[in-house]
Parts: sequence; structure tokens; C-alpha cells
Amino acid sequence: MERRRWLQAAVLMSLLLLCSGRELKSKRQAPAYNSTLAKTLAEYTSAVYTNDLSQLFSWTCEKCVDLTEGFEVIELIIDVKNCLEAYVGFASDMNAVVVAFRGTQENSIQNWIEDLFWKQLDFDYPGMSEAKVHSGFYSAYHNTTLRDGVINGIQKTREAYGNIPIMVTGHSMGGAMASFCALDLIVNYGLKDVTLLTFGQPRIGNAVFASHFKMYLPNAIRVTNAHDIVPHLPPYYQYFPQKTYHHFPREVWVHNIGLDSLVYPIEQICDDSGEDPTCSRSVSGNSVQDHIHYLGISMHSESRGSCRIVTDDNMLRYKVGTVDGTIVFSKQPGLSVDQLLSVQ
Ligand SMILES: *[C@@H]1O[C@H](CO)[C@@H](O)[C@H](O)[C@H]1NC(C)=O
Ligand SMILES: *[C@@H]1O[C@H](CO)[C@@H](O)[C@H](O)[C@H]1NC(C)=O
Repeated sequence: MERRRWLQAAVLMSLLLLCSGRELKSKRQAPAYNSTLAKTLAEYTSAVYTNDLSQLFSWTCEKCVDLTEGFEVIELIIDVKNCLEAYVGFASDMNAVVVAFRGTQENSIQNWIEDLFWKQLDFDYPGMSEAKVHSGFYSAYHNTTLRDGVINGIQKTREAYGNIPIMVTGHSMGGAMASFCALDLIVNYGLKDVTLLTFGQPRIGNAVFASHFKMYLPNAIRVTNAHDIVPHLPPYYQYFPQKTYHHFPREVWVHNIGLDSLVYPIEQICDDSGEDPTCSRSVSGNSVQDHIHYLGISMHSESRGSCRIVTDDNMLRYKVGTVDGTIVFSKQPGLSVDQLLSVQ
């Protein structure tokens, strides 16, 4: 018994050493991965799944606490027709603009995932020769009214608080949209100081696209979790490197190591290929459960399978119009929660 315990401890120690060795090694050439920032952005991403828009807009929702406390939403955009949503606001503690995209809300996440197997690289990313992406992911950001709302929100926030850094985040489909958004801000709007950190996102383009992406966003981070199925999709075919989908770097794979009761979660910083075979690709991606929990935070809405919008009359004051099936709520920066919620 004693001996067994001792063995367990020894094995665990060597695993830990191996892993910390890896981390040290990659840290020298790798952009620093900030796990506090990852946790913070996971909380921001989780909040966008709140159904009650008044609570989200006033940042009084159940998930609007902890590391995101005191956040100020400036713009909330809901594309009802396509069931997409994003918000933009000001995080005073980080002195940054935060942009968060919601993942898919379709009836069954299972159906959405099955669909991912068949996505074609059917669209040429504008201005990047031979860079191909999936038109559906591209359009969800570029071809909906979401983009205008997000750009507007960023401009408004920066007018009020200065040219502060922009942090873009999202989960699942929202991670795909966040990626296109971050790239758009740099390529088409010439913005600097854009951070991208996503959770459980699918692949969005081919290898050429990934290498352009890496050039524009060298510090982008894609967090993947254990056996989450979505980062494995659409499939990557190792033997057709030029024809297949290819993740952009850098993946950070969260998983448990250890034996029996001695397990520890680690955040493994992967290589800069985008398709590190020792990270999530080393396991079968077969879990939906691992898709909806990241860093201990749930990434799904309370009510299943609806694009339901819950709000109260008080919110109507902040509605700035309905364009082509999109609702935008917008407020002037600096309004306190009390002012925001007071009935006039
Ligand atoms: C990591 O991120 C947190 C939250 O934004 C920040 O307060 C902290 O300074 C960062 N740490 C490093 C080493 O950059
Ligand atoms: C975006 O919308 C326009 C107009 O509806 C359409 O012509 C174009 O093909 C769409 N782009 C993509 C990538 O779907």
C-alpha cells in the first residue's frame, strides 16, 4: 500500500516535471500565455450566454461577477434572424475594450457538430491569395449586421476611454467569429493592440490562411479542453496538408494528468504549427460535455435550444433600432447601473 502510494507520487512528480519542462521550453519562444487572463475572458464569454438581456446589458447577471465585476457594456448586438449575439464594453480593471461573441444556439448542439464534418473550404479570404475559409463562418461575422455593431461599439468605447487595447473572445462558433473579427480589426481597420483568445473553436480556414493569420495575430490563443470534439472539426487530414483545414496557432490544451485520485489540470502550451500532434490532436475528440465547460466555467445558456430574447420595457430606451432582423442596444459610456436601471 505504502509502496503503491510512493510509486504514484513518483510517477506524478515525473509527469509534472516533464510538463513544466515543456512549458519552460516553449515559453522561451512562445508568447506568454496568461492563465489569469484566460480565466477572465472565459467568464466574459460565459456571460454572453445569459438569456435575460436587461441583466446582461446592466451587467447584473448571475455570471457577471468575480473577475468581470464592474464591467460596463456599451453595445449589445443581437442578430435575431441568424441567432447571433455579441457585446462590446469597457473593463476598467484591465483598462481594455472587451468584445465577446456567443456560440451557436441552434436547437441541438449535436446537430450543429455533425454539420461541422461537412463544411467545405469554399470561400477565398479577400486580399490573401490562396487563403481559403468556410463561407458560413466568414459570413456569420462579415455578412451580418453584427460587424457594424461591434465596430461601432469599439469606436464608442475608445472615444470615451482612449485608445486602449482590444480583447476579442468567444466560444465555439463564437470563437470562429471572434477570430474573423480580430483579423478584420487589424487588416481592414488598421488597429493595433488586438488580443484574441478563444475557447473550443472549430477550424476556420486552410494552412495558407493560418499562416497569414499567424502573421497578423502572432499572439492569438485557442484554448481547447480535454476531449472537446469541436476543435477537431472540420477535420484535418494530415496527408493533404494543402487541401485540408488547418488551425492557426497557438493552441493551449487544458487536460488532466496524473493517476487515480492524484490528478491535476494543466494548461499545456502547444507548438506554433497550429496542429501540434501532442496537444488535443493526441486524443480522440469525442466529447460534447468537454465542449461546454472551460476552465471550470459553463459555456451554454440556461434554456436549451432557443434564440429566445428576454428583456423588459426599461431596455427599450437603449434600443437604437432594428435593422434587417438585428436589434442593437447602445448606451453612453459612464452611466451607472442605478441610472441604467432606473425607471423613467
Ligand atoms: C495576466 O492578466 C491579468 C488580467 O488581465 C493581469 O492583471 C496580469 O498583469 C497579467 N499578467 C502578466 C504576467 O502579464
Ligand atoms: C455576403 O452577402 C452578399 C450579399 O447578400 C453575397 O453576395 C455574398 O456571396 C455573401 N458572402 C458570403 C461569403 O456568403
